[in-house]
Amino acid sequence: ASCLVFVTVSRFCCFLSCHFVSRFCHFLCHCCHFVSRFCPFLCNSSNDCYYPAVPWFPNDIQDLDRFANQILSYGSELDADHPGFTDPVYRARRKEFADIAYNYRHGQTIPRVEYTEEERATWGIVFKELKTLYPTHACREHNRVFPLLEKYCGYRQDNIPQLEDVSRFLQSCTGFRLRPVAGLLSSRDFLAGLAFRVFHSTQYIRHSSKPTYTPEPDICHELLGHVPLFADPSFAQFSQEIGLASLGAPDEYIEKLATVYWFTVEFGLCKQGSEIKAYGAGLLSSFGELQYCLTDEPKVLPFDPDKTSLQKYPITEYQPVYFVAESFEDAKEKVRRFAATIPRPFSVRYNPYTQSIEVLDNTQQLRNLADSINSKHKTISSPLVDFV
Ligand SMILES: [Fe+2]
Repeated sequence: ASCLVFVTVSRFCCFLSCHFVSRFCHFLCHCCHFVSRFCPFLCNSSNDCYYPAVPWFPNDIQDLDRFANQILSYGSELDADHPGFTDPVYRARRKEFADIAYNYRHGQTIPRVEYTEEERATWGIVFKELKTLYPTHACREHNRVFPLLEKYCGYRQDNIPQLEDVSRFLQSCTGFRLRPVAGLLSSRDFLAGLAFRVFHSTQYIRHSSKPTYTPEPDICHELLGHVPLFADPSFAQFSQEIGLASLGAPDEYIEKLATVYWFTVEFGLCKQGSEIKAYGAGLLSSFGELQYCLTDEPKVLPFDPDKTSLQKYPITEYQPVYFVAESFEDAKEKVRRFAATIPRPFSVRYNPYTQSIEVLDNTQQLRNLADSINSKHKTISSPLVDFV
């Protein structure tokens, strides 16, 4: 009997989006897998039972709070070759930022930081240099949003914008929001944030001794590279699509999705008319690589998730290979098709009203989704009829 209970409960657990049950999903799926191997006569649908255990994933936006305690390394732990390694003042400052993020919880205001004169000077050097390149090297979406960030979020050479102000701006544009992060997250956790339109952002700045170099993401990279694109609706959808694909995906697919993320959100190029422009944050926050990526030196290939997800890449030097997207819409569709190949016994959909993930695993749920889409279609088509 206990065997039957485990099978019944764990199958229920794996495939429903119940908030409470999902917390035990990982454990119970292991039980399901184990029990069903030894009690096959109890399973009336053997296919369901033989899926590998589904890794836990956040169902609700507040579940992202769990990641605050799951960082792989604390933000103040610097490697020996970090420019700030021997600077005790910088290390203490990094700990202040790490503590802010460690204690942050969803729904709170992101604490404001009084940046020092030295920190503002470092920002100013990076800001001034990159701004000269954006008109010719950045994609049109970046150039469209940048003046708005100057107008509404305090983007200036002598001012480091506050994450809270920027997050509010993004929410008003696309629903994306920033969340401070205390250190390195696993790829699985980081990508899961994107499914909720949450971007984990650093708040500290690189060491002042090397203003044009940083061995890790810092606030220059986040605010100048990432933020402008998250304000664009198509790019926001594309990014969320990668996040949704990652939920409950097997480890090998997380690695593939992280590689797709690397070659798009971090180092992506896109076609714009007859030209190629940069939209990846790693490019838009690096004066040197932003120029290099549009020369004839690197290899440029068309974006194709099947191939892109297998491409090896260096992390400490300029990329030898870039991938070019036809458009964000095209890239989004390609990621969707790629996501459909991920072995998961369900599909997922983000519900923006409840800020939670809906797990679609039965016909009734799909019927409800079809009704919802149908209703939206009618809302859109009615005024079109009036126009015609
Ligand atoms: Fe980044």
